[in-house]
Amino acid sequence: PERLEGLLERAAEMKRAAPGRGNKTGRRQKTGRGQTERVLEGRTLGLVFEKASTRTRVGFETAMNQLGGGTVFLANADSQLGRDEPVEDTARVLSRMVDCLAIRTFDHGRLARFAEYSEVPVINALTDAFHPCQLLADMQTYRERRGDIRGRTVAWVGDGNNVCRSYINAAALFGFQLRIACPAGYEPEPELTERRGDRVRRGGQVRHGDRVSLGSDPAAAVAGADLVVTDVWASMGDEGEQARRRADFAPYQVDQALMAKAADDALFMHCLPAHRGEEVSAEVLEGPQSAVWDEAENRLHSQKALLELLIPRAG
Ligand code: CP
Ligand code: NVA
Repeated sequence: PERLEGLLERAAEMKRAAPGRGNKTGRRQKTGRGQTERVLEGRTLGLVFEKASTRTRVGFETAMNQLGGGTVFLANADSQLGRDEPVEDTARVLSRMVDCLAIRTFDHGRLARFAEYSEVPVINALTDAFHPCQLLADMQTYRERRGDIRGRTVAWVGDGNNVCRSYINAAALFGFQLRIACPAGYEPEPELTERRGDRVRRGGQVRHGDRVSLGSDPAAAVAGADLVVTDVWASMGDEGEQARRRADFAPYQVDQALMAKAADDALFMHCLPAHRGEEVSAEVLEGPQSAVWDEAENRLHSQKALLELLIPRAG
């Protein structure tokens, strides 16, 4: 947790120093501290993406560029991974050339194997199981809008998917209460949500004590919450189940009536891309409680802080 606090501090600092126009929150300095230091000059981040991406990819590529380094992007179809070269071989080869790797894939075990065989740090840029980089941006966004999230209540409404699982880990690491409302059959695994001792890591999971509760009633989860979060009903890889999921998740849309049950100053977040009229109404997504555009922007700043932490400085 202390390391994460430091990372968020650094991300906020980098945001203030970032080049470009001021954003709507007006927090960015337009002049003064100038460009981010080019501490990663000569360093390379390899991006191995077996699923689509907009924010994560552009966040990483822009971050490396602003830090003075470069990136190599490998889409599955363009690399030998797409022709069944084993990940163990690809990991050994790439990690002899680049300084850090970010992997977006389906099976979490594939990422774990990649990391096992890599000589350089491997970042989870999303798997079917977890999406930790998203949580860095969400935590940065909550903090800049409302301050410390410790002791606050977060409601997760919808699929018990990768982002939801990373919220479970974040509840332990950042000390907030998480109330999950999922339709039956879409809950995160019981071993993730059951009560356990606090802050003990095992595999990809962080034990969360009694910080996480699981139910099926969105209104109960959202009542008095400080932050309401949702995500698409069919994640990448679930496309074949779209029709069934649309029916099963119909009562789980985050609309104005549901947001009205949250705290008066509650925020709404969504990792994007969003489907207006499905998991969130257009009114909520575009409304005054929505923090989604800052949340998306903060993917850049938080990933930049992460890269600075993981990649040894040049020289
Ligand atoms: N939120 C997120 O990870 O977006 P992308 O899929 O566009 O990277
Ligand atoms: N749960 C979504 C997140 C996309 C950023 C997916 O995995 O498709």
